[in-house]
Order: sequence, then structure tokens, then C-alpha cells
Amino acid sequence: MCGIIGYTGSENVRDVLLDALELLEYRGYDSAGIAVKDQETKQTAVYKCAGRVSDLRAICGSETTAAGCGIGHTRWATHGGVNDRNAHPHQVGKVTLVHNGIIENYRELIADYDLAGELQSETDSEVVAALLNHFYEGNPKEALKKTVSKLRGTFALVVLFADQGDVIYSTRNVSPIVATLCDEGAMLASDLTALCRFTNRYFVVPEYHILELHSDKLVLSDFDGNIVEPEYLTADWELNSAGKNGYPFYMEKEIMEQPEAIENTIANRIKGGLPDFSADNVPDTLFTDCERITIIACGTAMHAGLVAQALVKSILHMHIDVEMASEFMYSDPVIDEKTLVIAVSQSGETIDTLEAVKYAKRRGAKCLSIINVKGSSIARESDYVLYTNAGPEIAVASTKAYTTQLAVFYLIVAKMAWSRGIFTTEETQSFVRELQRTPEVMKQVLEHRRDIHLVAKRVLAAKDLFMIGRGLDYSILLEGSLKLKEVSYIHSEAYASGELKHGPIALITQDTPVIAAVTQEKLMSKELSNIKEVKSRGADVVVFIKETIAGSLEGEYEVFELPNMQDEFMVMPASVALQLLAYYVSSDKGFDVDKPRNLAKVVTVE
Ligand code: F6R
Repeated sequence: MCGIIGYTGSENVRDVLLDALELLEYRGYDSAGIAVKDQETKQTAVYKCAGRVSDLRAICGSETTAAGCGIGHTRWATHGGVNDRNAHPHQVGKVTLVHNGIIENYRELIADYDLAGELQSETDSEVVAALLNHFYEGNPKEALKKTVSKLRGTFALVVLFADQGDVIYSTRNVSPIVATLCDEGAMLASDLTALCRFTNRYFVVPEYHILELHSDKLVLSDFDGNIVEPEYLTADWELNSAGKNGYPFYMEKEIMEQPEAIENTIANRIKGGLPDFSADNVPDTLFTDCERITIIACGTAMHAGLVAQALVKSILHMHIDVEMASEFMYSDPVIDEKTLVIAVSQSGETIDTLEAVKYAKRRGAKCLSIINVKGSSIARESDYVLYTNAGPEIAVASTKAYTTQLAVFYLIVAKMAWSRGIFTTEETQSFVRELQRTPEVMKQVLEHRRDIHLVAKRVLAAKDLFMIGRGLDYSILLEGSLKLKEVSYIHSEAYASGELKHGPIALITQDTPVIAAVTQEKLMSKELSNIKEVKSRGADVVVFIKETIAGSLEGEYEVFELPNMQDEFMVMPASVALQLLAYYVSSDKGFDVDKPRNLAKVVTVE
């Protein structure tokens, strides 16, 4: 959480920092701030406030003189409320600092080093600034090393020292920092999105190293002072793909990008009509030697895991668990060297998922991760990685990352079914062909988005809402319901239809709309009965139904017909429809769709 940027170079630093913070705002958006070194006075000026980057832009105005060096931050509050004082950067003595992470022992540090008198805010971050200032005697690296040796917790620190010219210093533990040197100067950020505008070459700053940014060079060294060569990566994201491209919100843009994203995810992993992970260096033995599978993930990524679980059970008949990463380590999971652990994460930085991967590896499991952001912490921690190639996902609510995660899971299931002799070669090819139809089928849903907009209007006024379905439909609705609640603030619950009568049906009234999904032919007749049950209790029911079975639906319902795919693949068109529903409800209510309250895109605190 929290977005960080640092820049030293030839461009107008204020503009570089503010533009980057706008791109990073998805990491946290309750306050923002920048510090710039004035080229004439050599003073470091801090501008910060509670609110959005647009508020910060207003207070920076045009009075800030253009300068060549500065740092910036967007905050997602952990320690201390949302106010101007708690916003970063924090300035103590000669030190101006921004921080991402959590310092667990900040109280001890205040007492041990008698820092209370230096602090203006309630944040753990300002304690780090004060400690750094305490140790600083003109040698930034020594001060950083001493400070870091006292810290317990996670941190990405980016620092300006008053007497060190236009040089930026940084070090980190767990919380990520990426950096680059390009024609315009040197820069670092909490993630690649902020660098994309300048270059697609970047490296991940290793933990417990110190990075110095000069306008014309970068110096990376370990804590013993040895110079380390940065290991550059190339992002295959287009340089400007982080823009809105004419859409009012990133969420809409990202929903619309899904056909292309799926294409990018699967195209290079299909050879001769069969799944092939050789370009990813994932050996076939990973899939043939395991006896059980455990998927670990959070939120939407975990919901992708639930779809995979249904497929693995019905096609591979294997034991598979899906674990919320935040609960995993504390639940005595059954993990051993015969377990294939699959970690799923868009950002590759979710701390619970990262810690769960480390734990599973300590227990001897092999870990394959499905990740969107190249070189991210979970990717680096895993034995093998399958990147989803969805491009930057900026809206806080995940859309294209989810469906590309599903696409990878379809390929994994096909690979396992084939390599374990469950599918013949022809059956595998036929399964893969159906997956290849997905982009076309998704386009059909997107073309009918106006109809979904009309459906959205029916639930706008709801305070509470239920989503019901059976089998795979239930898994899809868990995600559809999460999407709706996070962007529209409507309380929505997904229920397996058969469970309704065991309690929740008591909540069904004419004021609780019900959204039903009916895409699984073998479960259709039971599902249709459940729909009638809620209808007869007064609920306004909207049905998302596979078009080939829509004729079986009797009665007056608002219906959206989903284009036909084999049952196992109906997740794809249905998910797009539910994403659009959530999007339209939120935008019609006038909410900031891309930045729902209290949320942040990258969850780096436990
Ligand atoms: C919801 C959403 C979150 C994320 C979750 C995991 O729309 O985006 O539930 O899915 O925070 O994030 P990643 O995939 O980055 O590990």
C-alpha cells in the first residue's frame, strides 16, 4: 500500500512527481505529498495534505519553482488518522522521508532514542525520519544502515538529505521499490506503473541494499558497501497503456480490454492446439508428480482459485484446497513435498500471499504462481511463474486480472488432464479450442453492455442484494458480489442456491433484489426452482442465463442472455456481465469507480 515516487533529472520535478502520484493513487488515496529541492535556495520544500493528488496539485500551485530532485507519496493510512500532519513526506532535521510499510517497534524506538520531542504526527514513518536524523552525521549510507538495523517490520524508505545535493537514497525490506535510469534522469517508485511513461526497463531494488539516485547515474550497493549491478527487466506493457484511453474510468477500460488480454495470456502457451508452458520454463513433471493442489490467494484472485477448484474436482478428480492466504499459515494446512501450491496475485505484492508462499516452501511444497506484475515479490519467491500478461490494471476493482487468471487455470487443467492421461490428445485440443473462443464470446457480451446498463438501473436503489447460483455459478457470483459491493457499496451476498432455505431466505423481501446465474445445464432445473422460490417471496429477480437454455425460464424476470460456451467456460462471459453490472451501478451512483472508499490496489500490510 502507499505509492512512492522519487525523481532526479532534467524535467520539471513537480510535474513528474504529481503526474506519477496520479498513476500511483490506486495504492492509497487518503493523503498525498511531495518534497522538492529548490535549485536556488537548496532548501527542501514539503507540500502535503489529506485528500487526493488533485488537492495536492492545488496547494502546490505554480509557486513551486521547477527543480531537479524530489520525492512523493500517496497514503493509505495505517498508523494515525487521515490529516495533513500524518501525510508524507515527513521532515525531521536534515532528513525528509517517505515510507511504505509498517514499523512494528516504533514505540520502543521513540523511547530508546528519546524521539518524542521531534515528532509532529502520529505515524510510525515519522519515527524513522527522526531516527535517521539522529544517526545522520554527514554519511547517508551509514545512517541508513544504522537505522535499518533498529527497525522491525516492513519498509520501503526514500530519503532526501538536506546537504546531499540532488541525490535520493532508498532502502527496503519486503515493501517493493523499482528503479530505472533513462534519458530524463533517474527515478524510483513503489511500482512500475509510475515509470511506464518514461521507459519499460526497470529493476527491482533488492532487500537490504542501498540505492543512490543521481540525475545521470544510479549506484546500488549492499550493506557491506559492495557495488551491485542492477538486474534490469523489460516490462512488456506499452509505455502509455497506463492511461484511460478515452474511457471515463479505468475499470471500464479494463473490462473492455479483456478479449485482448485473454489473447495475450493464452496465445504463446498453445502449441499444436495443446497447452505448452515450455517458454515459461515450467516442467511437465510439476503437474504429473504432485498428489494434491493448494491454491493460496486473496479476494478476487482467491475467487479465481475457487473456479479452478471446481474444474480440478470435476475434470481431474484430484484433492484441491483453496485457502485464503491471510488464514493459511494459522490453519495448520496439509502441505508437503507432494503438494503443488499455486499462488495467485495480480500485483504479486499482497503480503499475506507472499508470506503464505514462503511458509509453503518451508514445508517442502513446490510453488507455481500466477502473477500479472513481472518481477514482483511473489514472482521472485516462487519456483515457477506464469504471467497473465493482462497489462497494467489500475482500477482498484480487479477485472481483467481475474479473467486472465482463469485463462491460465484452464490451460493448467488442460495440461494436467492431458499429461495424466485423463484427456486424450483430441479431447485436450477440443478443450483448448473452446478456451480460444473466449475473446470472441467476451466481445459479444461487451457489445450488449447497454442492456446490462439497463439491468443495473433496477438495482441502483437496493441496500441489500442476494446473488444465487449452483456449482460454477456460485463461484462466479462470489466474485460478482464482491465486485458489486466494493464499487457500489450495496451490501451483496452470494449464496449457493440450495443453501437459501437454510436461513437466508428469511431476508428476501420485495426490497432485496436477487441476481441469479444459470449457466450450468445439469443444474438448471434445480436452479430454476430456487429462482421461483425467491420470486414468490416478492424479490425482483434478474437472471443471467446461458442463451441456449433461456427458453426454459418461465415467468416474468429481467433476463440477460449470455452467449453460449461449454458449461465449464461459461464463467468467462458471465464474469464480464457481472463486472459491467457492478461498474454501471457505481458510475450511475456517481461514485469514484476506480477508487472505492477505504480500499487500495496493493495490500502490503497483514
Ligand atoms: C477486488 C480486488 C482484491 C484483490 C486482492 C488480491 O476487486 O482487487 O480483492 O483481488 O486484494 O490482490 P492481488 O491479486 O494483487 O494479490
